Amino acid sequence: MNQKLRTALSFAKNVLTTGALSETSRKVEIEICKHLSIDKDLTIIEFGMGHGNITKEILANISQKSQVYAFEINPDFCEFVESNVKDPRLKVINDGAENVKNYITSNVDFVLASIPFSFFSKEKAFKILNDSHEILNIQGMYSQVLYTKHNFKKFQKVFEDCTIKKLSYFPPEYIYHCQKLK
Ligand SMILES: C[S@@+](CC[C@H](N)C(=O)[O-])C[C@H]1O[C@@H](n2cnc3c(N)ncnc32)[C@H](O)[C@@H]1O
Repeated sequence: MNQKLRTALSFAKNVLTTGALSETSRKVEIEICKHLSIDKDLTIIEFGMGHGNITKEILANISQKSQVYAFEINPDFCEFVESNVKDPRLKVINDGAENVKNYITSNVDFVLASIPFSFFSKEKAFKILNDSHEILNIQGMYSQVLYTKHNFKKFQKVFEDCTIKKLSYFPPEYIYHCQKLK
C-alpha cells in the first residue's frame, strides 16, 4: 500500500480526532514553514504531527542544533513517525497541545499547528492559544492551518499581529500566521 493511501485510511479511521480525511497539502507544508530559518538555532513546537509530513518539512528547514518537540495524541501516529523519521533534533511527545506547559515553559521560537482547532471547546482552544503565547519568545510566531477563516478572531484576541492566507479552494486551506509582539 502506498504511503498516501495508508495515511488517508488512518486519518479516516480516526476522523473524530484528526478532523481530516487526508494529509494537508504540499502548499500547506511550505507556507506553514516559511518563516523558519536555517541560520539560527531554533526551538519549534509542532501540534498535531500526524504521520509527519509537516514535521519532515520543519526538519528540512532548520539548523543542525535546532530542536523540534512534536505533540500528537494518537500513539500509533507517534510510533509511525518514531520509526520512519530518525532525527536527533526531533522529540515526539504523545500528549495533547493543551498540556504543552507540562513539558515546555519558555523560549520557543515557533509553534506550528495542524490540530483540528475548530473541533475544540472554547476553553481548550483558548488554553492552547494562551499557553502558546506564554511560552513563545517576543517576535515568536504561532502558525496554524485551518479549513475555515471563522476562528481568526480567537487568534486576534491572543496574538498582537495576525494575518491569514488562503491557499486553496477545495478543500479550502487557510494558514493563520500570528506573532507575539509583547
Ligand atoms: C489534520 S491532522 C494533521 C496531520 C498532519 N500534520 C498534516 O498536516 O496532515 C490533525 C492531527 O492532530 C492530532 N490531534 C488532535 N487533537 C490533538 C491535540 N489536542 N494535541 C495534539 N495533537 C492532536 C490528530 O491525532 C491528527 O494527527
